Amino acid sequence: MSTLLEVSGVSVTFDGFRAINNLSFQIADAELRAVIGPNGAGKTTFMDIVTGKTRPDEGRVLFGEKSVSLLRMSEAKIAQAGVGRKFQRPTVFEDQSVFDNLLMALKKDRKPWSVLFYRKSKRDTERVEELAEQIGLTEQIHRTSGELSHGQKQWLEIGMLLAQEPRLLLVDEPAAGMTLAEREQTTDILKEAAKTRAVVVVEHDMEFVRRLNCKVTVLHEGSVLAEGSLDHVTANQDVIDVYLGR
Ligand SMILES: Nc1ncnc2c1ncn2[C@@H]1O[C@H](COP(=O)(O)OP(=O)(O)O)[C@@H](O)[C@H]1O
Ligand SMILES: [Mg+2]
Repeated sequence: MSTLLEVSGVSVTFDGFRAINNLSFQIADAELRAVIGPNGAGKTTFMDIVTGKTRPDEGRVLFGEKSVSLLRMSEAKIAQAGVGRKFQRPTVFEDQSVFDNLLMALKKDRKPWSVLFYRKSKRDTERVEELAEQIGLTEQIHRTSGELSHGQKQWLEIGMLLAQEPRLLLVDEPAAGMTLAEREQTTDILKEAAKTRAVVVVEHDMEFVRRLNCKVTVLHEGSVLAEGSLDHVTANQDVIDVYLGR
């Protein structure tokens, strides 16, 4: 597998505090990766850097087979280049149906005026149905999104991101506030999505991470503390010390 994302020697300082400290990190094409670490380890800041929201003081962030630098690109350009990000709070249009939310997500990259002349094609309808299936919302497809459960809204948001066909999907704490059944379905959705793109998941819930059954990166004080299978990293003495607060 080739490298899709390469972060090397990245540091970010906020008011003199080094939130990311010489971070180096690689993600392969179609890889599922979990990122764990204590509060304040820099997990969200890492996603902010990759998506262009935060600019590092030093280091490189390269994406794709042409190794384009994301550091010179705007947030919109990074998204266009194939980096999708799911925020904790869903941004679905609550008064629209699941179908319409997914359809709008398919069309997001169109010029605004084209929406006026837009006719829904058979292909679009099929694609929306495929996406609904992928996120487990086939039965809810014609329901108003505002009526969905918290977990279902999160899946819809994942579906809206998948509609854009990102090559890298970043997901920050997807299981927060979910029931056990919803968490289980979320792992299935993310595992399936990672078959055709890279997916990086930040998550606190260790049972959730275990079910993802993928390589784990442990961040601490803005750098990689350990990397490997969940069993490997949780047996690492440095990781044990950090989690026990020693
Ligand atoms: N915009 C910001 N301004 C100042 N400090 C920040 C900012 N963003 C994050 N931090 C600090 O950087 C550190 C890492 O934060 P964060 O990336 O949110 O950690 P995590 O997601 O791992 O809990 C924390 O100490 C946090 O307070
Ligand atoms: Mg965070």
